[in-house]
Amino acid sequence: MLKYREGLSNRPQYDVTERPWKIKLNANECNMNLPPLVEERVMSRLSRVAFHRYPNEEYDDLAEQIARNFSMEKENVLLGSGSSEIIEKLFYCFGGSETSRIVYPRPSFSMYGIYANAADAEGIPVDLEEDYTLDAELFVRTVHESKANLAVICNPNNPTGTGIPLKDVEYIAQHIDCAFLVDEAYMEFYGQSAMGLLKKYPHLILARTFSKAYALASCRVGYMLAGKEIVSMVNRAYMPYHLNVLSLTVADTVFQMRDEYVPRIQMMVAERKRMAEEVKKIPGFTVYPSETNFLLLKHAKAKELNESFLSRGIGVRSFGEAPRLENCLRISMGLREENDAWLKVIQLFAEGRD
Ligand SMILES: Cc1ncc(COP(=O)(O)O)c(C=O)c1O
Repeated sequence: MLKYREGLSNRPQYDVTERPWKIKLNANECNMNLPPLVEERVMSRLSRVAFHRYPNEEYDDLAEQIARNFSMEKENVLLGSGSSEIIEKLFYCFGGSETSRIVYPRPSFSMYGIYANAADAEGIPVDLEEDYTLDAELFVRTVHESKANLAVICNPNNPTGTGIPLKDVEYIAQHIDCAFLVDEAYMEFYGQSAMGLLKKYPHLILARTFSKAYALASCRVGYMLAGKEIVSMVNRAYMPYHLNVLSLTVADTVFQMRDEYVPRIQMMVAERKRMAEEVKKIPGFTVYPSETNFLLLKHAKAKELNESFLSRGIGVRSFGEAPRLENCLRISMGLREENDAWLKVIQLFAEGRD
């Protein structure tokens, strides 16, 4: 008889099974590989990696570099296997009992609920408004009423694309005193960050990733910025040497050369604006304002539209019956020609010529 941990079999799973898509627009990745100059430098550095040593220096170098960039110290930075691991560890550190409550918006990144469950904490979702904006006062009230250990917002929010104005982020930081995580996975497409608030609010924590704007989803690298005490406490939840030297070396190079990404981030934003305008011209579609590299669309026949995408090998994200996301599809911005291809599909669909 196998005796698994209590509650394990009830845990929801995040399905990452993929098909060989012709056009893949379902995971908010960057549809371009590394910029050529970055790739050249990465390959050259990888050829000199000390494979026989544990990755100590490489971790410190990247943490140091990130800290310096934000005028902070290495002890303010924690690196993780994607920001996923950082978020999961934060939930673990502020969870642990029936009375540990973690408050987050809904709809938002679906993993928050899963991590709360895995951390033996109670997840308390706060419903976004009809237009998917966050009512900061309601959020603060929920944090107080639930006596939360951790409050989380995603800015800009996945999967709605909505940005939360910095004044609202600061309002929340001012009015709660539990740990407050701002997940900034898509910040580079928004340009607004809570970074400037970090020194003012010691309970504030930022999570960032190399997976989206920096086209490094394969390497699984993310980082957290917070006060030294929080970093030191969360570090206790990690194994030693938890990031491998290959990912660290690539991320270090990417961070050094991040200026190379500016034109393509601008291109993604321009594509998002272009596509939003194009879809708005098609009757029957709601396009939610987005500050990210994806668009959330609503259509009464979203299920059939998704079938249409599937039959053409185009992968977009459908949310099935997820609360508040009925009839919604999330489409990551691809290259211009890929975007033209999915637009064509919805134009034909709307004209009934599918
Ligand atoms: C809002 C949000 N946070 C965090 C992540 C995790 O990204 P990663 O683990 O690749 O850094 C994602 C990925 O889709 C996301 O959408």
